[in-house]
Amino acid sequence: MKLAVTVVAAAAVVSARCPPRPPVDVNVKCCADLAADASLKGKVYLPGTSAYTTRLGEYYSANAALAPSCMVLPTTTEEVSTIAALIHKSKCQFGMRAGGHSAFAGSNSVAAGVTVDFGYMNTTTYTAGDRTAAVQAGSTWGKAYETLDPFGVTVAGGRASVVGVGGFITGGGYSFHSNRAGFGCDTVRNFEIVLANGTVVNANAEENADLWRAQKGGSGNFGFITRVDMDVQPTNKLWAGFVGFQPEQVEEYYEAYIDFVDNMASDLASQTLLGVIANEGTTVTRNAIVSNSLGIVRPPAFDRTLSVPNVTETLFTDSINIIVPVFTGPTPLGLFSNWMVEMYASDIRILTFIDAALLRATAKMRAAAPDSVFQVLLELQPVTQSMVQHSTANGGNVLGLEAVVADGPAVMFLIALTVDTAANQDIILPLTIEFREEVNAYANSLGLNKNWKYAPYALGDQDPLSHYGEENLALIRSVSKKFDPTGDFQTLRRSGFKIPV
Ligand SMILES: Cc1cc2nc3c(=O)[nH]c(=O)nc-3n(C[C@H](O)[C@H](O)[C@H](O)COP(=O)(O)OP(=O)(O)OC[C@H]3O[C@@H](n4cnc5c(N)ncnc54)[C@H](O)[C@@H]3O)c2cc1C
Ligand SMILES: *[C@@H]1O[C@H](CO)[C@@H](O)[C@H](O)[C@H]1NC(C)=O
Ligand SMILES: *[C@@H]1O[C@H](CO)[C@@H](O)[C@H](O)[C@H]1NC(C)=O
Ligand SMILES: *[C@@H]1O[C@H](CO)[C@@H](O)[C@H](O)[C@H]1NC(C)=O
Repeated sequence: MKLAVTVVAAAAVVSARCPPRPPVDVNVKCCADLAADASLKGKVYLPGTSAYTTRLGEYYSANAALAPSCMVLPTTTEEVSTIAALIHKSKCQFGMRAGGHSAFAGSNSVAAGVTVDFGYMNTTTYTAGDRTAAVQAGSTWGKAYETLDPFGVTVAGGRASVVGVGGFITGGGYSFHSNRAGFGCDTVRNFEIVLANGTVVNANAEENADLWRAQKGGSGNFGFITRVDMDVQPTNKLWAGFVGFQPEQVEEYYEAYIDFVDNMASDLASQTLLGVIANEGTTVTRNAIVSNSLGIVRPPAFDRTLSVPNVTETLFTDSINIIVPVFTGPTPLGLFSNWMVEMYASDIRILTFIDAALLRATAKMRAAAPDSVFQVLLELQPVTQSMVQHSTANGGNVLGLEAVVADGPAVMFLIALTVDTAANQDIILPLTIEFREEVNAYANSLGLNKNWKYAPYALGDQDPLSHYGEENLALIRSVSKKFDPTGDFQTLRRSGFKIPV
């Protein structure tokens, strides 16, 4: 009797220790299903394999390199369609990666789910004499320029070779050609997109024109972009370089910049942007990137800028394929990077305030994290009415910049922070945000804050789409509903920026 009771009690204990078998993790199952598909053999990378580890090391920012349940690297549009259909059916969480150069955690990978990595779809196809080049979404711009170079043409892509096509083109795309052609997205004649249910569509002025327009700035909200057919620019030649100037010349240089920006409509091939770099040392570097996208040397538009005494100068003419890698310099992978952005009216007071506030902020950073190695890079880039008019002439996008430049040119204020370790980032990132907020408060006090954020430079919480204006948001929402009726890119997609609800 006693024994029987004991046996029963023991059985009860055993069953309490063995709850019903937990359901298989949906994302692990998704990965197993992807790996079991014959067409994806060898293209699904699982944790613990060297292919997976190597690929995770190929993110620009350590913050972004989240370790997913698996990565899948399709090589054809059909394979992307297979992947999409499986994700749709099994409700897998997923992220999207093209060049892997967005910086924030959750920009291009997922901690749990499938990272759809376009890195193996990296070719550019062009036939001499054609108006457009076909560029796959996973290419870097450097590779696209290299392919187009022998034909004497180029496309309106990134100003660093390492930048990917997917992230740049879906968020806008500021190129050396923007003052002549609008943003990179404005030069897209056709997107090939795999929808959530696996259907492949083209989006252009004639076919799915609503999707075409919404995709120009709409980020990764509608589908998997596999290919962009882009206008080719008339020449592959570029005259460009850095012009460095002394602290004593700051005011004079910034005035010359403002004057240049006010006159950008008079020379569409010429552009400039200001860079200010401070780091753990005490030397601050200030330079301008000066360019002419027709390869014209020293066009008169730069007379005033180039009359300011310089300390260094690297201007030269060559093909964009040669110049852009020189510009890129070393862009080390795996640092703790954070990019963030604002938009102000183009006004000398903003520029001089930013310069002085940066010196105060970096002094604080050095004191707070004395052993750190870090860099704060500021880039001040004009957005002008002439640029926005080119966007409109090319069929329009959803960025909503018409309102931003309605009263005159604006300046995009990019802060790119890189820090050596996570611990130093914990100290320096809050101080960087404090610096940004100090500039915002100053711009607000003068009524010069345009309250607009450029997605390719935005930090994860900056919600760029919410600044595009109601009309553009209405189009974005209706396109999402039409092409992704189950809302996979709002709920299952875990990476990148969403449509504000
Ligand atoms: C060194 C450097 C230089 C830069 N220079 C410039 C510049 O000159 N001009 C400029 O405008 N920006 C520039 N940027 C910013 C750059 O455009 C963004 O970081 C951009 O997101 C990088 O693209 P990617 O393909 O590498 O993006 P990823 O980090 O791979 O992806 C970012 C996001 O893009 C979307 N996406 C990616 N692939 C697809 C796809 N196939 N379909 C749909 N959506 C997709 C997803 O939403 C994803 O979340 C630069 C960045 C760096 C690091
Ligand atoms: C481009 O894609 C091919 C596979 O399609 C791959 O072997 C190659 O490594 C890729 N190149 C880069 C630079 O990623
Ligand atoms: C930079 O300064 C040098 C020396 O004064 C001058 O010769 C050169 O033309 C300047 N560069 C530019 C781009 O103006
Ligand atoms: C896939 O989705 C699109 C957009 O909603 C729809 O037009 C198409 O009919 C769907 N295809 C299938 C096979 O369900």
